[in-house]
Amino acid sequence: MADKLIIFDTTLRDGEQSPGASMTRDEKIRIARQLERLRVDVIEAGFAASSNGDFEAIRAIAGIIKDSTVCSLARANDRDIARAAEALKGANSSRIHTFIATSPLHMEKKLRMSPDQVLEQAKLAVRYARQFTDNIEFSPEDGSRSELDFLCRVLEAVINEGATTINVADTVGYGVPELYGQLVRTLRERVPNSDKAVWSVHCHNDLGMAVANSLAGVQLGGARQIECTINGLGERAGNTALEEVVMAIKTRKDYFGLELGIDTTQIVPASKLVSQITGFSVQPNKAVVGANAFAHASGIHQDGVLKARDTYEIMRAEDVGWTANKIVLGKLSGRNAFKQRLQELGIEMASEQDVNAAFARFKELADQKAEIFDEDILAIVSNEAQADSSEHFHLVSMAQHSETGERPSARVVFTAQGKELMGDAEGNGPVDAVLNAIESQVQSGAEQLLYSVNAITTGTQSQGEVTVRLSKGGRIVNGVGTDPDIVAASAKAYLSALNKLYSKAEKLNPQLTP
Ligand code: KIV
Ligand code: ZN
Repeated sequence: MADKLIIFDTTLRDGEQSPGASMTRDEKIRIARQLERLRVDVIEAGFAASSNGDFEAIRAIAGIIKDSTVCSLARANDRDIARAAEALKGANSSRIHTFIATSPLHMEKKLRMSPDQVLEQAKLAVRYARQFTDNIEFSPEDGSRSELDFLCRVLEAVINEGATTINVADTVGYGVPELYGQLVRTLRERVPNSDKAVWSVHCHNDLGMAVANSLAGVQLGGARQIECTINGLGERAGNTALEEVVMAIKTRKDYFGLELGIDTTQIVPASKLVSQITGFSVQPNKAVVGANAFAHASGIHQDGVLKARDTYEIMRAEDVGWTANKIVLGKLSGRNAFKQRLQELGIEMASEQDVNAAFARFKELADQKAEIFDEDILAIVSNEAQADSSEHFHLVSMAQHSETGERPSARVVFTAQGKELMGDAEGNGPVDAVLNAIESQVQSGAEQLLYSVNAITTGTQSQGEVTVRLSKGGRIVNGVGTDPDIVAASAKAYLSALNKLYSKAEKLNPQLTP
């Protein structure tokens, strides 16, 4: 039997640390359910001590998820560990993941602790965690820049205390594949009790090498757990992308010789869900989940693929969950057909009322657009989910005028806590005019950090998906809006971002504070 490789997903914890990717409890639950369908082995659901909201989200996920182990991060102190244990109480299978920095730079400048103090704190943390569970992961933060002898001492000590997984963190993405792989190997060879733990890799993508480093940690180093996120989401340049490592291990089984528990057909739905919830769109040429990942533009390639698919394709699009842009429903489809498609897509609506609201939106869309694809349905559900969280602003109607040689103008009618407002403004283009019209009434003063438009299916009939990232008072939020009219999608995205800024619903944003 080939060795099993454990897939540890940290989209809900490390992924959530991306600017504006902070999620609500319900959004986290929706992603956790999809991760379970994907059959990831471990879901790191959050960082329980970071906020009450994150604690509650972990607790809810622990109560719902049955097939994956649910994990919480905890700094190496009693309070964090007790909070993690409390949040995980209801889980079928749980893990506490504790960490402390071990590099000279982090110990001296950030923690202001001596190496002996760090060693002692790591030991005490794992000893304390043992009171709650025997599934304990320990991470030496900034492990790849730590001094080897000291790292060996810390890891030997925490394994003695009962740590069952050792996660070699390349926190700042400093590693290069050969050296990182060797580091994992050397640690496994030098730490006397290394065989009592599963070795894990955790790589950041600052130099674009997170996937390569993780695979080197597995192949050269003998690690048997990879920590990763959907779409490679994560702070700065992100984390190792789950879809890439999974498909590399699967496609090159001849080389890696490892077994995975993942249902790869759930990869694309997971990617779309995470992208819609966080507002981080996926670049078209992104491996596996990008819109062009299986598109062949060159005549030579198209000809080859038609003659024999494997001339230019090493994976099958269906194996990672791409549906061939199937027209699934149309104007005449009824509520039952709609509901059944939701079930086939693995979408569980909380109530019949929610199904009705989504169905009403589907009917509106079917009036605007003849062909409705799975992507459209996912967008509808995502919009509805955003809309229900005690929406502050809601678009009623809009009109805009643009003509060659004229300055574009727009009028937007929207409600603010039920009160109708109307804004008129001009702008550099129709989108700018619409956003100015909204801002003329709201006067949020928020800074626009990002505006992007994507077609969610193909052709000009497609719905446009707009992401707007706003920043105000130190908070960063992403709003997403979809509509066949990209100016309307922009208005919706802007209002959705404002809703997040003004929302009282707690956003869970676990930042690691020293
Ligand atoms: O990057 C990092 O060091 C982390 C640890 C908490 C594992 O995310
Ligand atoms: Zn990390």
